[in-house]
Amino acid sequence: MTSQEITLTVNGRARRATVEPRKLLCDVIRQDWRLTGTHVGCEQGVCGACTILLNGRPVRSCLLFAVQVDGARIETIESLAPEPDRLHPVQEAFWEKHGLQCGFCTPGMVLTAKAFLEQTPNPTDDEIRTAIDGNICRCTGYVFIVDAIRAAAEAMR
Ligand code: FES
Ligand code: FES
Repeated sequence: MTSQEITLTVNGRARRATVEPRKLLCDVIRQDWRLTGTHVGCEQGVCGACTILLNGRPVRSCLLFAVQVDGARIETIESLAPEPDRLHPVQEAFWEKHGLQCGFCTPGMVLTAKAFLEQTPNPTDDEIRTAIDGNICRCTGYVFIVDAIRAAAEAMR
């Protein structure tokens, strides 16, 4: 299969890759750019672990071929903390409220929450639950995740 060159803005910086058209975006992110904070669970659009922000909106990077997003702007979990020793308010809230255990779902959960809170700064608990209903967590039971997102909303307002 003929490879194709793609260029994206990844976490604010231009990145190139030469990829086969069948290569998934999540695999380019992890293998070519070594941004392994994007996790891969089901590889079929169910778990949400591979969620990234594509032009500001959460998408599942296992459901996209990298060539489909040539020219786009993407953000991965690595871009969130403003400084090495400072967390984004959503990350801070997950830490403080124990919104994670094994951490496998966390990058996708945090990016989903960030995009949601930018659109919905004062959410109800039901709105929070709906916002994360595409992200599966096998550890926490979700209660502390909802607490964390509520706390992050307060911190971001
Ligand atoms: S790995 Fe993409 S949704 Fe599960
Ligand atoms: S913290 Fe383990 S899957 Fe969510």
